Amino acid sequence: MTVSFVGLGYVGLCTAVAFADRGFDTLGVDVDPERLALVEVGRAPIHEPGLERLLKKAVLSGRLHVSDDLADVAQTDVIFLTVGTPSRFDGSIDTSHVERASREVGAALRSERDMRLVVVKSTVVPGTTRSVVKPLLEESSGKHVGVELGLCTNPEFLKEGSAIEDTFHPDKLVIGGIDGGSVDRLKRLYRAFYGEEIPPTIETTPETAEMIKYASNAFLATKVSYINTIANIAQLVPGLDVEQVASAIGLDPRIGPLFLRAGPGYGGSCFPKDVRALIAFSRERGYDPGLLAAVEKANERQASKVVELSEKLVGSLEDKRVAVLGLAFKKDTDDVREAASIRVIHRLQDKGARVTAYDPMAIPSARRLLGTTVEFAADPKSAIDKADCCIIMTEWDEFRCLKGKDFAERMRKPNVVDARRLYQRDELEGVNVLAIGMGRSSSVQEHPAPDAKVLA
Ligand code: UGA
Repeated sequence: MTVSFVGLGYVGLCTAVAFADRGFDTLGVDVDPERLALVEVGRAPIHEPGLERLLKKAVLSGRLHVSDDLADVAQTDVIFLTVGTPSRFDGSIDTSHVERASREVGAALRSERDMRLVVVKSTVVPGTTRSVVKPLLEESSGKHVGVELGLCTNPEFLKEGSAIEDTFHPDKLVIGGIDGGSVDRLKRLYRAFYGEEIPPTIETTPETAEMIKYASNAFLATKVSYINTIANIAQLVPGLDVEQVASAIGLDPRIGPLFLRAGPGYGGSCFPKDVRALIAFSRERGYDPGLLAAVEKANERQASKVVELSEKLVGSLEDKRVAVLGLAFKKDTDDVREAASIRVIHRLQDKGARVTAYDPMAIPSARRLLGTTVEFAADPKSAIDKADCCIIMTEWDEFRCLKGKDFAERMRKPNVVDARRLYQRDELEGVNVLAIGMGRSSSVQEHPAPDAKVLA
Protein backbone atom coordinates (compact mmCIF):
# COMPACT_ATOMS: atom_id res chain seq x y z
CA MET A 1 0.00 0.00 0.00
CA THR A 2 1.18 3.54 -0.69
CA VAL A 3 0.40 6.39 1.69
CA SER A 4 0.20 10.17 1.58
CA PHE A 5 -0.03 12.93 4.16
CA VAL A 6 -1.82 16.20 3.56
CA GLY A 7 -0.03 18.65 5.86
CA LEU A 8 3.58 18.20 6.98
CA GLY A 9 3.33 19.64 10.48
CA TYR A 10 4.46 17.70 13.53
CA VAL A 11 2.09 14.80 13.10
CA GLY A 12 2.18 14.63 9.30
CA LEU A 13 5.93 14.81 8.94
CA CYS A 14 6.84 12.44 11.77
CA THR A 15 4.29 9.86 10.66
CA ALA A 16 5.26 10.18 6.99
CA VAL A 17 8.92 9.63 7.83
CA ALA A 18 8.04 6.60 9.97
CA PHE A 19 6.02 5.05 7.12
CA ALA A 20 8.86 5.65 4.66
CA ASP A 21 11.27 4.09 7.15
CA ARG A 22 9.11 0.98 7.27
CA GLY A 23 9.38 0.68 3.49
CA PHE A 24 6.13 2.31 2.33
CA ASP A 25 6.14 4.59 -0.70
CA THR A 26 5.12 7.83 0.97
CA LEU A 27 4.08 11.21 -0.33
CA GLY A 28 3.96 14.39 1.75
CA VAL A 29 1.95 17.39 0.56
CA ASP A 30 2.11 20.87 2.02
CA VAL A 31 1.30 24.41 0.91
CA ASP A 32 4.41 25.94 2.52
CA PRO A 33 7.18 26.08 -0.12
CA GLU A 34 9.93 26.69 2.46
CA ARG A 35 8.92 23.63 4.43
CA LEU A 36 8.79 21.50 1.28
CA ALA A 37 12.20 22.74 0.13
CA LEU A 38 13.73 21.66 3.44
CA VAL A 39 11.98 18.28 3.62
CA GLU A 40 12.89 17.51 0.02
CA VAL A 41 16.60 17.68 0.83
CA GLY A 42 16.22 15.76 4.08
CA ARG A 43 16.31 18.72 6.46
CA ALA A 44 13.79 18.78 9.28
CA PRO A 45 11.86 22.07 9.53
CA ILE A 46 11.25 21.40 13.26
CA HIS A 47 13.49 20.19 16.02
CA GLU A 48 12.50 16.67 16.97
CA PRO A 49 14.97 14.07 18.25
CA GLY A 50 15.68 11.41 15.59
CA LEU A 51 13.56 13.10 12.92
CA GLU A 52 16.30 14.48 10.69
CA ARG A 53 18.23 11.20 10.62
CA LEU A 54 15.14 9.26 9.51
CA LEU A 55 14.09 12.02 7.13
CA LYS A 56 17.47 11.96 5.35
CA LYS A 57 17.29 8.19 5.12
CA ALA A 58 13.74 8.36 3.74
CA VAL A 59 14.66 10.92 1.09
CA LEU A 60 17.86 9.13 0.07
CA SER A 61 16.06 5.78 -0.21
CA GLY A 62 13.56 7.41 -2.58
CA ARG A 63 10.65 6.29 -0.38
CA LEU A 64 9.58 9.79 0.66
CA HIS A 65 8.54 12.34 -1.91
CA VAL A 66 7.00 15.75 -1.44
CA SER A 67 4.66 17.82 -3.54
CA ASP A 68 2.83 21.12 -3.38
CA ASP A 69 0.06 19.71 -5.55
CA LEU A 70 -2.62 18.05 -3.47
CA ALA A 71 -3.99 16.28 -6.54
CA ASP A 72 -0.94 13.97 -6.37
CA VAL A 73 -2.46 12.14 -3.39
CA ALA A 74 -4.89 10.48 -5.80
CA GLN A 75 -2.08 8.09 -6.73
CA THR A 76 -1.80 6.74 -3.17
CA ASP A 77 -3.95 4.08 -1.50
CA VAL A 78 -4.34 5.71 1.90
CA ILE A 79 -4.56 9.49 2.31
CA PHE A 80 -4.03 10.88 5.80
CA LEU A 81 -5.37 14.36 6.56
CA THR A 82 -2.84 15.89 8.95
CA VAL A 83 -3.61 19.58 8.64
CA GLY A 84 -3.88 21.86 11.68
CA THR A 85 -7.07 22.77 13.53
CA PRO A 86 -6.14 26.04 15.26
CA SER A 87 -8.21 27.78 17.93
CA ARG A 88 -10.74 30.42 16.94
CA PHE A 89 -11.19 33.46 19.18
CA ASP A 90 -14.01 31.71 21.11
CA GLY A 91 -11.89 28.63 21.76
CA SER A 92 -13.65 26.43 19.21
CA ILE A 93 -11.55 24.87 16.48
CA ASP A 94 -11.14 26.31 13.06
CA THR A 95 -11.77 23.43 10.67
CA SER A 96 -11.17 25.42 7.51
CA HIS A 97 -7.93 23.55 6.67
CA VAL A 98 -9.66 20.21 7.16
CA GLU A 99 -12.55 21.39 5.01
CA ARG A 100 -10.31 22.61 2.22
CA ALA A 101 -8.24 19.43 2.31
CA SER A 102 -11.40 17.28 2.19
CA ARG A 103 -12.72 19.21 -0.77
CA GLU A 104 -9.45 19.07 -2.66
CA VAL A 105 -8.81 15.40 -1.92
CA GLY A 106 -12.35 14.61 -3.06
CA ALA A 107 -11.82 16.56 -6.30
CA ALA A 108 -8.52 14.76 -6.89
CA LEU A 109 -10.27 11.38 -6.50
CA ARG A 110 -13.18 12.19 -8.81
CA SER A 111 -11.76 10.36 -11.83
CA GLU A 112 -9.94 7.71 -9.80
CA ARG A 113 -11.31 4.23 -10.35
CA ASP A 114 -9.56 2.39 -7.52
CA MET A 115 -10.91 2.49 -3.99
CA ARG A 116 -9.01 4.99 -1.82
CA LEU A 117 -9.11 5.41 1.93
CA VAL A 118 -9.13 8.86 3.53
CA VAL A 119 -8.04 8.98 7.17
CA VAL A 120 -8.66 12.00 9.41
CA LYS A 121 -5.68 12.30 11.73
CA SER A 122 -6.14 16.00 12.48
CA THR A 123 -7.62 16.66 15.93
CA VAL A 124 -11.31 17.37 15.33
CA VAL A 125 -14.28 17.60 17.69
CA PRO A 126 -16.77 14.72 17.77
CA GLY A 127 -18.98 14.64 14.71
CA THR A 128 -16.54 16.39 12.34
CA THR A 129 -15.57 13.34 10.29
CA ARG A 130 -19.18 12.31 9.72
CA SER A 131 -20.83 15.69 9.34
CA VAL A 132 -18.08 17.84 7.81
CA VAL A 133 -15.46 15.67 6.09
CA LYS A 134 -17.81 13.01 4.68
CA PRO A 135 -20.24 15.34 2.86
CA LEU A 136 -17.39 17.45 1.46
CA LEU A 137 -15.56 14.37 0.19
CA GLU A 138 -18.73 12.95 -1.33
CA GLU A 139 -19.70 16.20 -3.00
CA SER A 140 -16.32 16.91 -4.53
CA SER A 141 -15.51 13.33 -5.52
CA GLY A 142 -18.96 12.30 -6.69
CA LYS A 143 -18.41 9.03 -4.78
CA HIS A 144 -20.23 7.47 -1.86
CA VAL A 145 -18.26 7.02 1.31
CA GLY A 146 -18.38 3.39 2.38
CA VAL A 147 -19.08 2.26 -1.17
CA GLU A 148 -16.55 3.77 -3.57
CA LEU A 149 -14.44 5.65 -1.03
CA GLY A 150 -13.21 4.72 2.44
CA LEU A 151 -13.18 7.09 5.44
CA CYS A 152 -11.88 6.67 8.98
CA THR A 153 -10.90 8.77 11.96
CA ASN A 154 -7.55 7.84 13.47
CA PRO A 155 -6.40 10.33 16.12
CA GLU A 156 -2.76 10.71 17.00
CA PHE A 157 -1.21 10.60 20.46
CA LEU A 158 2.45 11.38 19.78
CA LYS A 159 4.27 13.85 22.00
CA GLU A 160 6.67 16.53 20.86
CA GLY A 161 10.17 15.59 21.89
CA SER A 162 9.48 11.86 21.51
CA ALA A 163 7.36 11.93 18.38
CA ILE A 164 9.39 9.36 16.44
CA GLU A 165 9.57 6.90 19.32
CA ASP A 166 5.83 7.40 19.96
CA THR A 167 5.02 6.72 16.30
CA PHE A 168 6.91 3.43 16.31
CA HIS A 169 5.64 2.39 19.75
CA PRO A 170 2.24 3.92 20.49
CA ASP A 171 0.30 2.61 23.49
CA LYS A 172 -2.79 2.17 21.32
CA LEU A 173 -4.33 2.71 17.91
CA VAL A 174 -7.77 4.26 17.76
CA ILE A 175 -9.78 3.71 14.60
CA GLY A 176 -13.21 5.22 14.13
CA GLY A 177 -14.87 3.94 10.99
CA ILE A 178 -17.90 5.06 9.05
CA ASP A 179 -18.02 1.54 7.60
CA GLY A 180 -16.43 -1.80 8.40
CA GLY A 181 -14.54 -2.01 5.11
CA SER A 182 -12.64 1.22 5.82
CA VAL A 183 -11.68 0.01 9.28
CA ASP A 184 -10.40 -3.27 7.86
CA ARG A 185 -8.28 -1.48 5.28
CA LEU A 186 -6.71 0.79 7.85
CA LYS A 187 -6.05 -2.17 10.13
CA ARG A 188 -4.37 -3.95 7.23
CA LEU A 189 -2.11 -0.94 6.72
CA TYR A 190 -1.16 -0.87 10.39
CA ARG A 191 -0.57 -4.62 10.43
CA ALA A 192 1.87 -4.11 7.56
CA PHE A 193 3.49 -1.23 9.50
CA TYR A 194 3.75 -2.86 12.94
CA GLY A 195 3.94 -6.54 12.00
CA GLU A 196 3.72 -8.79 15.05
CA GLU A 197 3.92 -5.82 17.40
CA ILE A 198 0.63 -4.22 16.51
CA PRO A 199 -0.52 -2.06 19.45
CA PRO A 200 -3.88 -2.66 21.14
CA THR A 201 -6.44 -1.36 18.66
CA ILE A 202 -9.70 0.26 19.61
CA GLU A 203 -12.30 0.04 16.86
CA THR A 204 -15.18 2.39 17.33
CA THR A 205 -17.38 5.06 15.79
CA PRO A 206 -15.72 8.20 14.38
CA GLU A 207 -17.39 10.27 17.12
CA THR A 208 -15.97 8.12 19.92
CA ALA A 209 -12.53 8.10 18.30
CA GLU A 210 -12.61 11.90 18.04
CA MET A 211 -13.64 12.17 21.70
CA ILE A 212 -10.90 9.76 22.85
CA LYS A 213 -8.33 12.27 21.63
CA TYR A 214 -9.91 15.20 23.50
CA ALA A 215 -10.64 13.18 26.62
CA SER A 216 -7.03 12.05 26.71
CA ASN A 217 -5.48 15.51 26.39
CA ALA A 218 -8.03 17.12 28.72
CA PHE A 219 -7.37 14.46 31.37
CA LEU A 220 -3.61 14.97 31.19
CA ALA A 221 -4.09 18.75 31.36
CA THR A 222 -6.32 18.19 34.39
CA LYS A 223 -3.57 16.17 36.08
CA VAL A 224 -1.11 19.02 35.50
CA SER A 225 -3.47 21.71 36.82
CA TYR A 226 -4.33 19.46 39.75
CA ILE A 227 -0.73 18.94 40.84
CA ASN A 228 -0.03 22.65 40.29
CA THR A 229 -2.93 23.44 42.62
CA ILE A 230 -1.50 21.11 45.27
CA ALA A 231 1.92 22.72 44.66
CA ASN A 232 0.51 26.20 45.30
CA ILE A 233 -0.98 25.01 48.58
CA ALA A 234 2.28 23.22 49.50
CA GLN A 235 4.20 26.45 49.01
CA LEU A 236 2.29 28.00 51.90
CA VAL A 237 3.53 25.43 54.41
CA PRO A 238 7.20 25.34 55.48
CA GLY A 239 8.51 21.77 55.27
CA LEU A 240 5.94 20.60 52.72
CA ASP A 241 7.19 19.38 49.34
CA VAL A 242 4.85 18.64 46.43
CA GLU A 243 7.42 16.41 44.73
CA GLN A 244 7.23 13.87 47.51
CA VAL A 245 3.48 14.19 47.64
CA ALA A 246 3.36 13.44 43.89
CA SER A 247 5.64 10.41 44.10
CA ALA A 248 3.68 9.02 47.02
CA ILE A 249 0.23 9.44 45.48
CA GLY A 250 1.61 8.19 42.14
CA LEU A 251 2.26 4.78 43.70
CA ASP A 252 -1.48 4.26 43.87
CA PRO A 253 -2.28 2.58 40.52
CA ARG A 254 -5.56 4.47 40.41
CA ILE A 255 -3.55 7.70 40.24
CA GLY A 256 -0.30 6.70 38.47
CA PRO A 257 3.06 8.48 38.63
CA LEU A 258 3.08 10.35 35.31
CA PHE A 259 2.03 13.93 34.58
CA LEU A 260 2.33 14.92 38.20
CA ARG A 261 5.31 17.24 37.78
CA ALA A 262 4.35 20.59 39.23
CA GLY A 263 5.52 23.50 37.11
CA PRO A 264 4.64 26.82 35.51
CA GLY A 265 1.61 25.43 33.70
CA TYR A 266 1.13 23.42 30.54
CA GLY A 267 1.73 24.83 27.09
CA GLY A 268 2.30 23.66 23.55
CA SER A 269 0.16 23.34 20.49
CA CYS A 270 -2.22 20.77 21.97
CA PHE A 271 -3.31 20.95 25.62
CA PRO A 272 -4.36 24.64 25.69
CA LYS A 273 -6.10 24.41 22.32
CA ASP A 274 -7.79 21.07 22.99
CA VAL A 275 -9.07 21.98 26.46
CA ARG A 276 -10.51 25.23 25.06
CA ALA A 277 -12.07 23.38 22.12
CA LEU A 278 -13.73 20.80 24.36
CA ILE A 279 -15.12 23.56 26.57
CA ALA A 280 -16.47 25.48 23.56
CA PHE A 281 -17.87 22.29 21.99
CA SER A 282 -19.66 21.40 25.17
CA ARG A 283 -21.03 24.91 25.79
CA GLU A 284 -22.35 25.09 22.24
CA ARG A 285 -24.43 22.06 23.18
CA GLY A 286 -25.72 23.59 26.37
CA TYR A 287 -23.47 21.99 28.97
CA ASP A 288 -20.95 24.05 30.89
CA PRO A 289 -18.00 21.78 31.75
CA GLY A 290 -16.99 23.60 34.93
CA LEU A 291 -14.13 21.23 35.70
CA LEU A 292 -12.40 21.91 32.38
CA ALA A 293 -12.91 25.65 32.73
CA ALA A 294 -11.20 25.43 36.14
CA VAL A 295 -8.32 23.44 34.63
CA GLU A 296 -7.79 26.16 32.07
CA LYS A 297 -8.09 28.97 34.60
CA ALA A 298 -5.64 27.29 36.99
CA ASN A 299 -3.20 26.98 34.11
CA GLU A 300 -3.47 30.66 33.21
CA ARG A 301 -3.00 31.65 36.86
CA GLN A 302 0.07 29.47 37.27
CA ALA A 303 2.17 32.01 35.35
CA SER A 304 1.23 34.65 37.93
CA LYS A 305 2.21 32.23 40.69
CA VAL A 306 5.69 32.02 39.19
CA VAL A 307 5.94 35.80 39.03
CA GLU A 308 4.74 36.04 42.65
CA LEU A 309 7.62 33.80 43.70
CA SER A 310 10.09 36.14 42.05
CA GLU A 311 8.43 39.11 43.81
CA LYS A 312 8.84 37.29 47.09
CA LEU A 313 12.57 37.17 46.42
CA VAL A 314 13.22 40.62 44.98
CA GLY A 315 10.26 42.74 46.04
CA SER A 316 9.01 45.10 43.35
CA LEU A 317 10.04 44.00 39.86
CA GLU A 318 10.08 47.57 38.54
CA ASP A 319 13.34 48.01 36.64
CA LYS A 320 14.72 44.72 37.93
CA ARG A 321 16.69 42.49 35.64
CA VAL A 322 15.16 39.02 35.39
CA ALA A 323 16.86 36.13 33.63
CA VAL A 324 14.45 33.59 32.16
CA LEU A 325 16.09 30.24 31.50
CA GLY A 326 14.05 28.20 29.06
CA LEU A 327 11.50 29.35 26.49
CA ALA A 328 10.33 26.10 24.92
CA PHE A 329 7.06 24.74 26.34
CA LYS A 330 9.03 21.68 27.47
CA LYS A 331 12.53 20.36 26.89
CA ASP A 332 13.74 18.76 23.64
CA THR A 333 11.70 20.99 21.40
CA ASP A 334 12.05 24.44 19.86
CA ASP A 335 8.30 25.00 20.13
CA VAL A 336 7.13 28.05 22.09
CA ARG A 337 3.47 27.92 21.13
CA GLU A 338 1.40 28.82 24.22
CA ALA A 339 4.53 28.22 26.32
CA ALA A 340 4.29 29.21 29.98
CA SER A 341 7.55 31.14 29.49
CA ILE A 342 5.79 33.60 27.20
CA ARG A 343 2.96 34.16 29.72
CA VAL A 344 5.50 34.68 32.50
CA ILE A 345 7.61 37.09 30.42
CA HIS A 346 4.57 39.20 29.59
CA ARG A 347 3.61 39.40 33.27
CA LEU A 348 7.18 40.31 34.25
CA GLN A 349 7.19 43.05 31.64
CA ASP A 350 3.82 44.35 32.86
CA LYS A 351 5.48 44.78 36.22
CA GLY A 352 8.34 46.77 34.75
CA ALA A 353 11.03 44.05 34.74
CA ARG A 354 13.75 43.90 32.09
CA VAL A 355 13.98 40.34 30.77
CA THR A 356 17.01 38.51 29.43
CA ALA A 357 16.19 35.03 28.15
CA TYR A 358 18.08 31.98 27.04
CA ASP A 359 17.01 28.68 25.53
CA PRO A 360 19.21 26.07 23.84
CA MET A 361 16.84 25.74 20.88
CA ALA A 362 13.83 28.00 21.03
CA ILE A 363 15.37 31.48 20.67
CA PRO A 364 14.51 31.88 16.95
CA SER A 365 10.86 30.92 17.53
CA ALA A 366 10.63 33.04 20.70
CA ARG A 367 12.16 36.01 18.89
CA ARG A 368 9.29 35.88 16.40
CA LEU A 369 6.82 36.28 19.30
CA LEU A 370 8.73 38.62 21.58
CA GLY A 371 10.72 40.70 19.10
CA THR A 372 13.15 43.10 20.69
CA THR A 373 11.23 43.43 23.97
CA VAL A 374 13.49 40.75 25.40
CA GLU A 375 17.25 40.49 25.29
CA PHE A 376 18.40 37.03 24.21
CA ALA A 377 21.59 35.64 25.73
CA ALA A 378 24.07 33.33 24.04
CA ASP A 379 24.33 30.87 26.93
CA PRO A 380 22.85 30.27 30.40
CA LYS A 381 25.76 31.84 32.22
CA SER A 382 25.64 35.13 30.37
CA ALA A 383 21.85 35.16 30.77
CA ILE A 384 22.17 35.36 34.55
CA ASP A 385 24.92 38.01 34.53
CA LYS A 386 23.95 40.91 36.80
CA ALA A 387 20.38 39.64 37.13
CA ASP A 388 18.31 40.33 40.25
CA CYS A 389 16.39 37.12 39.80
CA CYS A 390 16.59 34.01 37.61
CA ILE A 391 13.51 31.97 36.73
CA ILE A 392 13.93 28.44 35.41
CA MET A 393 11.07 27.90 33.03
CA THR A 394 12.02 24.80 31.00
CA GLU A 395 13.55 21.62 32.37
CA TRP A 396 16.51 21.55 29.94
CA ASP A 397 19.32 19.31 31.27
CA GLU A 398 21.79 21.94 30.09
CA PHE A 399 20.74 24.29 32.89
CA ARG A 400 22.02 21.82 35.43
CA CYS A 401 25.53 22.98 34.50
CA LEU A 402 24.80 26.06 36.59
CA LYS A 403 26.03 25.55 40.14
CA GLY A 404 25.38 27.56 43.26
CA LYS A 405 28.59 29.52 42.79
CA ASP A 406 27.62 30.56 39.24
CA PHE A 407 24.45 32.18 40.54
CA ALA A 408 26.30 33.65 43.52
CA GLU A 409 29.17 35.11 41.50
CA ARG A 410 27.34 36.28 38.40
CA MET A 411 24.03 37.61 39.62
CA ARG A 412 23.52 40.93 41.31
CA LYS A 413 21.66 38.96 43.96
CA PRO A 414 21.51 35.15 43.81
CA ASN A 415 17.72 34.79 43.69
CA VAL A 416 16.38 31.77 41.83
CA VAL A 417 12.83 30.68 41.16
CA ASP A 418 12.90 27.02 40.19
CA ALA A 419 9.60 26.71 38.36
CA ARG A 420 10.45 23.23 37.05
CA ARG A 421 11.98 21.67 40.13
CA LEU A 422 15.21 21.15 38.21
CA TYR A 423 17.37 21.28 41.31
CA GLN A 424 17.27 19.13 44.40
CA ARG A 425 16.46 20.72 47.73
CA ASP A 426 19.95 21.66 48.98
CA GLU A 427 21.79 21.66 45.69
CA LEU A 428 22.21 25.40 45.24
CA GLU A 429 24.23 26.37 48.24
CA GLY A 430 24.40 30.07 48.98
CA VAL A 431 21.48 30.83 46.67
CA ASN A 432 18.06 32.14 47.64
CA VAL A 433 15.82 29.55 45.99
CA LEU A 434 12.06 29.40 45.88
CA ALA A 435 10.81 26.30 44.12
CA ILE A 436 7.32 25.58 42.84
CA GLY A 437 5.50 23.47 45.37
CA MET A 438 8.05 23.64 48.13
CA GLY A 439 7.24 25.31 51.43
CA ARG A 440 9.99 27.88 51.96
CA SER A 441 13.00 27.02 54.07
CA SER A 442 14.13 29.41 56.78
CA SER A 443 17.34 30.23 54.86
CA VAL A 444 15.45 32.01 52.08
CA GLN A 445 15.31 35.78 52.45
CA GLU A 446 11.86 36.71 51.33
CA HIS A 447 10.45 40.12 50.61
CA PRO A 448 6.92 40.66 51.81
CA ALA A 449 4.47 40.46 48.93
CA PRO A 450 3.96 43.99 47.54
CA ASP A 451 0.46 44.37 48.95
CA ALA A 452 0.98 42.33 52.13
CA LYS A 453 0.06 44.07 55.37
CA VAL A 454 2.63 43.87 58.11
CA LEU A 455 0.88 42.66 61.22
CA ALA A 456 2.19 43.93 64.52
C1 UGA B 1 0.40 16.19 24.20
C2 UGA B 1 0.01 14.77 24.61
O1 UGA B 1 0.84 14.32 25.67
C3 UGA B 1 0.12 13.81 23.43
O2 UGA B 1 -0.32 12.52 23.79
C4 UGA B 1 -0.75 14.34 22.28
O3 UGA B 1 -0.66 13.51 21.11
C5 UGA B 1 -0.28 15.75 21.92
O4 UGA B 1 -0.41 16.59 23.08
C6 UGA B 1 -1.16 16.24 20.81
O5 UGA B 1 -2.37 16.40 21.02
O6 UGA B 1 -0.69 16.34 19.66
P1 UGA B 1 2.71 17.49 23.86
O7 UGA B 1 1.88 18.72 23.68
O8 UGA B 1 3.79 17.21 22.88
O9 UGA B 1 1.77 16.18 23.85
O10 UGA B 1 3.40 17.61 25.28
P2 UGA B 1 3.28 16.93 26.72
O11 UGA B 1 4.50 16.16 26.99
O12 UGA B 1 2.00 16.26 26.90
O13 UGA B 1 3.34 18.23 27.67
C7 UGA B 1 2.34 19.25 27.61
C8 UGA B 1 2.61 20.32 28.61
O14 UGA B 1 2.36 19.86 29.95
C9 UGA B 1 4.05 20.83 28.64
O15 UGA B 1 4.06 22.23 28.77
C10 UGA B 1 4.66 20.17 29.86
O16 UGA B 1 5.73 20.90 30.41
C11 UGA B 1 3.46 20.15 30.79
N1 UGA B 1 3.58 19.11 31.84
C12 UGA B 1 3.54 17.81 31.51
C13 UGA B 1 3.73 19.49 33.16
O17 UGA B 1 3.77 20.70 33.49
N2 UGA B 1 3.81 18.53 34.13
C14 UGA B 1 3.78 17.21 33.82
O18 UGA B 1 3.86 16.38 34.74
C15 UGA B 1 3.64 16.83 32.48
